[in-house]
Amino acid sequence: MHEKTWPLSLLLLLGLGLRSQQALPPPCESQIYCHGDLLHEVQMAKLFPDDKQFVDMPLSMAPDKVLLDFSELAKANNNNISRQQLQEFVNSHFQAVGQELEPWTPEDWKDSPRFLQKISDAKLRAWARELHQLWRKLGKKMKPEVLNHPDQFSLIYAEHPFIVPGGRFLEFYYWDSYWVMEGLLLSEMPETVKGMLQNFLNLVTTYGHIPNGNRVYYLQRSQPPLLTLMMDRYVTHNSDMAFLRENIMTLDLELSFWAEKRNITVSSGGTNYHLNRYYVPYGGPRPESYSKDEELAGTVLADDREALWAELKAGAESGWDFSSRWLSGGPNLDLLSTIRTSRRVPVDLNAFLCQAEELMSKFYTILGDEAQATKYRNLRAQRMAALKAILWDEEKGAWFDYDIDSGKKNPEFYPSNLTPLWAGCYSDPADADKALKYLEDNQILTYKYGIPTSLRNTGQQWDYPNAWAPLQDLVIRGLAKSPSPQTQEAAFQLAQNWIRTNFDVYSRKLAMYEKYDISTGGQPGGGGEYEVQEGFGWTNGMALILLDRYSDRLTSGAQPALQKPHYLAVTLLLSTLPNLLP
Ligand SMILES: *[C@@H]1O[C@H](CO)[C@@H](O)[C@H](O)[C@H]1NC(C)=O
Ligand SMILES: *[C@@H]1O[C@H](CO)[C@@H](O)[C@H](O)[C@H]1NC(C)=O
Repeated sequence: MHEKTWPLSLLLLLGLGLRSQQALPPPCESQIYCHGDLLHEVQMAKLFPDDKQFVDMPLSMAPDKVLLDFSELAKANNNNISRQQLQEFVNSHFQAVGQELEPWTPEDWKDSPRFLQKISDAKLRAWARELHQLWRKLGKKMKPEVLNHPDQFSLIYAEHPFIVPGGRFLEFYYWDSYWVMEGLLLSEMPETVKGMLQNFLNLVTTYGHIPNGNRVYYLQRSQPPLLTLMMDRYVTHNSDMAFLRENIMTLDLELSFWAEKRNITVSSGGTNYHLNRYYVPYGGPRPESYSKDEELAGTVLADDREALWAELKAGAESGWDFSSRWLSGGPNLDLLSTIRTSRRVPVDLNAFLCQAEELMSKFYTILGDEAQATKYRNLRAQRMAALKAILWDEEKGAWFDYDIDSGKKNPEFYPSNLTPLWAGCYSDPADADKALKYLEDNQILTYKYGIPTSLRNTGQQWDYPNAWAPLQDLVIRGLAKSPSPQTQEAAFQLAQNWIRTNFDVYSRKLAMYEKYDISTGGQPGGGGEYEVQEGFGWTNGMALILLDRYSDRLTSGAQPALQKPHYLAVTLLLSTLPNLLP
């Protein structure tokens, strides 16, 4: 049978001594949902098409009883349990997925939020109304059983109802929720946002960080840190200073998790710069992708498996699971087993933290705590210097992920390379215009259906040809900060492209997707570890952001000049006519 895998060797390898292991127990102790023989046997037997299904199933009885019954079953069969026996065991000891959640119609949902009326294109306005309706479909709340018997669920209890992404994602996710909340605020639903924020704050209070999503099997890792920004958006919308005051220490606690557990020092020109990275010091397969992680580990040396699993988890922590961003070297550059997430200093992570530091100094100033305000102002100043020294490339006009091992920047195109614009973490106003040139140099503006995730087709879902809503945002609202009309116009054009893709696919399929394939004229995306999912929280939020921002200019119809060559020819001819006339 499979051994329990708490990899002391890995912890030592990663430079953590026994003492810190004791101080920080593995934050995922369930012998059913996180590791152990039962998990291993069921997932490796592939009882379900998607490994996530098993670890989402509630128990029908106390976990001790499930484990006892399982060890008796194993003993009675000489540790050789047939697939059918396993299936029967799961049927008799677990419940169907989703039992612990019930549909919830947000109480602050209203029929006609104001922003709808200002959308000038009638078709887009009708569509925005349908997106606004979707909040009712994606609203969930927990049954009291989850509170009363937490050990029978992988779901972590949340006091307040919430909006989920949709599809296989029945729980809430960290960075997804930021775009969901932006959409909810446009839909004039601040009470729902406040409840979701409170859920996140409670997770920080309990665990010291926000897990990737609210399941115990996600506890070992976080996701891109946007909690401080969520608070800012809510407080700006609702002027709820009491809520800010009550929770400022929890925001501080979350940032100290990143500062202390996800920090990395990079030296350049005799100076040490303190930056952050995605890093998960725990081995073992991800419970929700168990068989895939086991199979991938079968392609590397036994000694390298725990480190590989830790790097996969760090990749999941980045939100980009998975991407050529994290792959390194070897004869086959695209091989997932070459993943080295923790050996990269990511642009987006450091820009998010830079923004959080600025917001914290603002919050503390408002609350009258000058000492803390100064602390965060200094942290931000240090980070701005580090971004410039380590990640910025003056010649290319963008920031790039830094490879700690090679000491070089990764020159590939990723929309995340422009995150400092979006986050307001640049000091030269001309940087936004340099970014436009960077996009032109990489021919990114020629992609008419959305900004690609990269220019490399690796089969991973965070690469070409997929396009994702949050990455459109990083570029579009980043460029839109430029004072130059030309750069702002490029931002609008990118927004128009993305809205057109979302709208056209919605018109055909009556659904919003988590990602889109831009190589096929805008289809639901593909690749990666699971089927493309409908719903979809952050895509809806992003569409509403753009529909609000460019309400008077976005159109639903195709622009003939862009799509029909003969139109283009006529337009060009007409535009050159004046030059031909004497
Ligand atoms: C396990 O049992 C099956 C029959 O159910 C048998 O074919 C197989 O050889 C057994 N494996 C071992 C390792 O005993
Ligand atoms: C992170 O910071 C702590 C001090 O807060 C330090 O002890 C540790 O070495 C740092 N880790 C890295 C990888 O730089």
